[in-house]
Amino acid sequence: MNITFEAMAAKLSAPEGWTFSDGPYGLEPLILPPAAAPDEEVERLRLATTPGDGLKALCPTLLTHGDSPLPMGTQSATGTPHPRIYWFRWITGHQISFVLWRLLIQEMRTAALADGARQARAIAAMITYVRGYCSMLLYTASCSRDLYETLIRPSMFLVHPGFSGTWAPDFAAVRQLFRGRQPGWSGSGDEAAALRRAVGLCRLIHSGVAAKLVPAGGSLLQDTPPYGTQRPELLGTLFDTYFMTARRPGCAERAVPQLLRRLEAVTLDLVEHGLAVPGEGERPLELRDEDVLEAERDLMGTMLRVGEHAAGLDASDLELQPQFVSQG
Ligand code: HEM
Repeated sequence: MNITFEAMAAKLSAPEGWTFSDGPYGLEPLILPPAAAPDEEVERLRLATTPGDGLKALCPTLLTHGDSPLPMGTQSATGTPHPRIYWFRWITGHQISFVLWRLLIQEMRTAALADGARQARAIAAMITYVRGYCSMLLYTASCSRDLYETLIRPSMFLVHPGFSGTWAPDFAAVRQLFRGRQPGWSGSGDEAAALRRAVGLCRLIHSGVAAKLVPAGGSLLQDTPPYGTQRPELLGTLFDTYFMTARRPGCAERAVPQLLRRLEAVTLDLVEHGLAVPGEGERPLELRDEDVLEAERDLMGTMLRVGEHAAGLDASDLELQPQFVSQG
């Protein structure tokens, strides 16, 4: 299949209740504070409004549908899914992941400074954000292999031939956790095990979506001969620009509302279209794993829990200063 301009320009209706961007499946820039290295202070994201109000105002559909299993295959079996839906998923799913990584590091630092019930709450939030990232990997990579090969991969290649997830500025602070390094303070045995399981699920899903979309195996970084001078600030800026993310100091109050708006738009999309592309063929082994299938069924439930944690950011968090605490 070739994704033609006609296919991209074909009429696309918005799900009922859609208010995101300025039209069906449009995009919005994400404005975040500058990213921090693992040992630097982060500008803490916080909600300016009363926690419950944020969720009610910005996520009405997620509140209604969050407890339902994900509708499977609601797209017409014969219709070709509209390419712009998957472009929306690719960009918006990544933007959501960036906010989740920031909320995750914030809770990690809270957990390192707190103890008892406060620490347990922070670890529960961490697990929710890691599972939220699992959901976003599934959502972001829900396009067909054809669409990935003809639209998405070339678009990254044109920004930089070795385009890589390793350049994501907000990922640096959580990289060690996703590479399986458990923080020293990871709570009781049960909490530590639950966090380990969630991280393991993310790794499994990442390998699964890579196998589904690039069965030959190589990322752009791996397939591109050495190119360029590898200046980290340049690569981080290219990555941010591709995913329509701008950095502004002092905008910490804007991040959670931007996350909630996106969770609502994703819910409307999923309710209308489901997750999977019709007739996608056999999935790689990783994506047939029972835990992955369960994460798919519970995708909207996970988004609801993410929204609840993010919107309910406890005022006591703000008293815990974000000075660097060793994660080791
Ligand atoms: C679905 C959306 C995706 C997201 C959010 C994502 C995210 C990331 C992140 C954050 C990293 C850095 C990991 C680290 O530094 O420890 C990474 C690395 C990597 N990803 Fe993905 N990824 C996605 C899809 C894919 C796909 C489709 C492939 C297929 C080849 C892939 C292959 C890789 C590889 C091989 C690496 C190691 C570094 C590199 O070669 O670029 N990922 N990814």
